[in-house]
Amino acid sequence: MRLLRIFLFLLPSFASFPAHSTPSPTPPPARAVEADIEAKVSALIARMTLAEKIGQLNFPSLAFPYESQLEAVKQGRIGNMLNVVNPGHLRSFEAAARGSRLKIPLLFAIDAVHAFRVTFPVPIAWAATWRPDLAELAAEMVARETAQDGINLTFAPMIDVSRDPRWGRVIEGAGEDPFLASAFAAARVRGYRKGGLATAAKHFVGYGAPEGGRDYNGAQISIAELFDRYIPPFEAAIGAGTETVMASFNTVNGVPVTANRWLLTDVLRERLGFGGIVMSDFFAVPELMNHGVAADLGQASRKALHAGIDLDMAGEAYRRHLGTEVAAGRVSMDEIDAAVRRVLTVKYRMGLFEDTPGGARKIPSAVTDARVRAAARAVARESFVLVKNSGATLPITPQSGTVALIGAAATSISDHSWYGPARLEKPKTETLEQALRRRIGATQTLLFAAGFADACGHAFKDKAEAIATARAADLVVLILSEDCAVSGEGASRTDLGLSGVQEEMLDALAETGKPIALVVETGRPLALTSAHEKVAALMIAWHPGTEGRTALAEVLAGEIAPSGKLPMTFPRSVGQVPISYSDLPTSRPATADRYTTGYVDEKPTPLYPFGHGLSYTTFSYSGLEISAPRMTRDGAIEVRVEVENTGPRAGQEVAQLYTRQLVAERSRPLRELKGFQKIALAPGQRKTVRFTLKASELAYHDDAGRPVVEPGRFRVFVGSSSTAELAGSFEIVAD
Ligand code: BGC
Repeated sequence: MRLLRIFLFLLPSFASFPAHSTPSPTPPPARAVEADIEAKVSALIARMTLAEKIGQLNFPSLAFPYESQLEAVKQGRIGNMLNVVNPGHLRSFEAAARGSRLKIPLLFAIDAVHAFRVTFPVPIAWAATWRPDLAELAAEMVARETAQDGINLTFAPMIDVSRDPRWGRVIEGAGEDPFLASAFAAARVRGYRKGGLATAAKHFVGYGAPEGGRDYNGAQISIAELFDRYIPPFEAAIGAGTETVMASFNTVNGVPVTANRWLLTDVLRERLGFGGIVMSDFFAVPELMNHGVAADLGQASRKALHAGIDLDMAGEAYRRHLGTEVAAGRVSMDEIDAAVRRVLTVKYRMGLFEDTPGGARKIPSAVTDARVRAAARAVARESFVLVKNSGATLPITPQSGTVALIGAAATSISDHSWYGPARLEKPKTETLEQALRRRIGATQTLLFAAGFADACGHAFKDKAEAIATARAADLVVLILSEDCAVSGEGASRTDLGLSGVQEEMLDALAETGKPIALVVETGRPLALTSAHEKVAALMIAWHPGTEGRTALAEVLAGEIAPSGKLPMTFPRSVGQVPISYSDLPTSRPATADRYTTGYVDEKPTPLYPFGHGLSYTTFSYSGLEISAPRMTRDGAIEVRVEVENTGPRAGQEVAQLYTRQLVAERSRPLRELKGFQKIALAPGQRKTVRFTLKASELAYHDDAGRPVVEPGRFRVFVGSSSTAELAGSFEIVAD
């Protein structure tokens, strides 16, 4: 087999609906500016004491009382801080840095992910819009709110690919697919940066594949998979200009990433060309002792620095030990200087110094709540995924008759923000009940029963009242909400069913025989098989944020048609996990026969496949054409398809393109997403959707991690989900 080395940085060629075209990323600093920065950094390093150098690698979290930290900043022993949010505190620390000998500005970082004041839907919901431009807008707005008082770095975006919904942090990412995740990684980096924050692409790498779905657990990932699946979003984030990368907590193939020189230096820096700061995760340097790769904190600091960790986040290992390590000759001054150089270079590139070549940092103007809320609403509207809708149960129309809204979540004003600075006063949220009443209250009867004692259905309040309310109605709209505490960091689950007594409530309501439209707020895919069977309609609303319940009412009432698609497979049961549409073929493709791949007690297929999502209208795909039957390994073809709105109302559809290489040197996935476009169509309208497919995008990696574009036949599928049936073929030929 002839291998063709291809250019390593492969940006995904997603295209979005032209009306929402994405601006190009901030261009990298011009060469002359970079040269000036280099000279300034060299001059600065030449003036620094070892203690001041170590200070630049020190990255503690604000601790009360903070006077000693202020003093340490003045002495140049703290160069960066996290969790300083209060404007008064920010000013005090800025002043302390200005009062230090070398006046080096601080990095001020927080987890501004989907919220500062206004809460946007959670990031997995951003991906469910399949509109990277909306994610870019969301990130920009969060950043603009955050950047006003001096915070200059966000610990975002989280771009870990994951096929395991047991892992609670899937809420922070873009799901299971490297192509989709790369598009969203780049968009989020662009957005936060546009809004005035530097970014931390995290967590490099493989954090989304912990064994058993257990947070912080080790991942076993083959080299080929590492490059095919987990690294591409980081390449995209680097291409979009991320200033920093955060290393992940876990081991990859037995070596903790924080001490993994191959991953952090050979791969991230040398191969991917990342020239910014690499930081540890929170306390991850001391935790090298828990991993059993360092006997003491000194060894931990030495291993982390040597692996390529520039900033020791909250670990105090560098501050306490690097001086001694240098004195003992175990760490060289060159190694320290190289890390300090990267930190100072990024600070210059961010414009934090007054004398930054090319100009000091300009903070984007403040945004009004109204503008941020409008953006949050826009994201929420397109993030809901209608996974079932038999008999056009939704939207609610006058013909739906009396509606019973059931569920304490319908009166909840919790915006489910997590990681946002909790102490800030949050803008008010409309409840689903209020929002729905405003829409349908005048034309039809809307009954309400909370049913549960709390929004997340941990206990009943009055089950009998809920049942009676359902009986008095023609349609039940039941809202169930997964507790935010069961998603996110440190929130792995072994059970993916509805939590608390929510399933019991659903059973009781189903017994009334009334049609049920179920809305589920969740931060991860759940196994909703039994719920699916009991309801007429089912909508995944994720955790939709400050504007979310209003947007939900707009969609339920039919003002807006749902247009979200699943960025992650919904399994039938937890035993199917990890599960993905892009599995490799097996020796025995699944059939009814026992001795084929699958389970004796469950179907092999998921409940809802990746890419699935319905609208209130229908779309048909036809006329697939491929511009040429073959292309060379540096070539490209165009795939065209006609999409028609065949239903009664306007809607948006995400046309998705998947490929499969039929025969190759290694088994290739059954399908791989290689293009998507969200388009708006009026009833009866038809559009030609065009995808450009480059041979280089069909590369895979071999066991040594080398990219290969292997000649051979490919099938291409276009349609509304990963089960699309409209297909064609083409070939990649050797020159
Ligand atoms: C998380 C990071 C986060 C950091 C700082 C860690 O526990 O893994 O994603 O940025 O804390 O809050």
